[in-house]
Amino acid sequence: PSLPPLVFYWIPFFGSAASYGEEPLTFFFKCREKYGDVFTFVLMGRRMTVALGPKGNNFILGGRLTQVSAEEAYTHLTTPVFGKGVAYDVPNHVLMEQKRFVKVGLTIEHFRAYVAMIDKEVGDYFDSSRFFPTYQTGSTTEWGKFNAFRALSELTILTASRTLQGEEVRNGLDASFAQYYHDLDGGFTPLNFMFPNLPLPSYWRRDRAHKAMSDFYINVIQKRKEQGGSEAGYDMIESLMNQTYKDGRALYDYEVAHIMIALLMAGQHTSSATTSWALLHATARPDIMEKMWEEQVKLFGQPDGTLRPMTFEDMKEMPVLDSVIRETLRMHPPIHSIIRKVIAPMDVPGSLAAPSKDRSYQIPKGHFLLASPAVAQIDPKIWKNADTWEPGRWNDTDGVAAEEYKKYVDSEGDKVDYGFGLVSKGTESQYLPFGAGRHRCIGEQFAYVQVGTIIASFVRRIEMKIEGRVPDHNYRTMITLPKEPCNIMYRRRQA
Ligand code: HEM
Repeated sequence: PSLPPLVFYWIPFFGSAASYGEEPLTFFFKCREKYGDVFTFVLMGRRMTVALGPKGNNFILGGRLTQVSAEEAYTHLTTPVFGKGVAYDVPNHVLMEQKRFVKVGLTIEHFRAYVAMIDKEVGDYFDSSRFFPTYQTGSTTEWGKFNAFRALSELTILTASRTLQGEEVRNGLDASFAQYYHDLDGGFTPLNFMFPNLPLPSYWRRDRAHKAMSDFYINVIQKRKEQGGSEAGYDMIESLMNQTYKDGRALYDYEVAHIMIALLMAGQHTSSATTSWALLHATARPDIMEKMWEEQVKLFGQPDGTLRPMTFEDMKEMPVLDSVIRETLRMHPPIHSIIRKVIAPMDVPGSLAAPSKDRSYQIPKGHFLLASPAVAQIDPKIWKNADTWEPGRWNDTDGVAAEEYKKYVDSEGDKVDYGFGLVSKGTESQYLPFGAGRHRCIGEQFAYVQVGTIIASFVRRIEMKIEGRVPDHNYRTMITLPKEPCNIMYRRRQA
């Protein structure tokens, strides 16, 4: 067998870092044109083998434990941020147990309570945020504007704390906790991924913030133990404190603390980016904006012209909102590169890529694998008008989207149990914003509740239109964000 084709580069070690770093998807499409679905590029001395398309997704995300390792690809980035003993600092079977623990705290009962809490948090935000002064005057004629990403980042952490993270974290956000979060986040960047430890202030701040945040949670846990529970009721911390590993051991306080940090980081930019992109696109399409409003009125409108409160059950009755989120995740999946390290040589199946009929590719141990479901999600060979944001495609009964959606819904039979509930094995898909296989996201339902409720709460309170046009992607951050400026104009709706 031979090695996959190597992408040409001029500067040793540095390799294709510039083209990949600036515009990863353009880089992947160009390489695919030249080399096919499987190729290797050099990134700061590392050999990254990319496998594209549904089959490429399947090859990497469905890779066997004996061949691919997520922890060896991610630990140097995540362990200084999340802390010891969790996620990629532990063997895979321990991560699987930890994902199961988290699942226990993400139940329908919790989601039921969350919708009202999130809506209230958005209401309070409109009443107090520096972004909404004209809302606060009560005027329904005057337009103001807000920075979509900044406002939605604030709302994401506020609503995640109010719900998942618990009362102590929510209260801490008005004080020290916000600064810890800020500094920790400053240590979760592509630079940290490339160079785990540099003698730079941002790295020192990251380490200090990790310690402070870990202590913050441990303190909360110890206080709760002393008081025999939390006043806020049953939340994720409480749920984790009650779990035990298969060998019967309960979680150490620092493990609970570090899982909470991991969840905070996993959900923050992914959700805030999704909500921002969704609103930026929808406000650029007055027809869709109008449909979202009509959906609210139809479902919640009262004879006196007010809207009744939303419930979790209602969330399933909003096909327009649902298609807006689904379409946003098609065009802007927050994670553009999913990475694994190859720990035993892997043969590339001929159906995915082969140099000739009687030879195949083999990926050696030590390479990294890179899956980018984003490529298939915007591939013009797969989707009609692939680069147009068109939520309607998800309701179209005979397009690719409808087919993918049906597969997604029907994939029950295909599911396997990795120890934390059934997960769709359907890694051979053209639509995988939440990944697939054993490392698949467990936050999907929470994200839909959070993102959906926030968007609906906006639509219910304000009219919106975009200032300018939908921004380009900023790939310099870990999560694909909208470039600045990303402003939205708003006007308070008639009460
Ligand atoms: C894993 C996307 C929100 C927790 C993943 C993966 C993707 C993803 C693509 C797979 C990573 C890999 O295979 O290396 C998203 C998107 C989100 C979102 C698009 C929102 C729109 C959340 C939230 C939480 C969360 C809110 C927590 C409450 C996790 C966890 C994993 C994961 C624990 C598992 C990592 C592993 O097993 O290695 N997510 N996520 N995510 N996500 Fe999410």
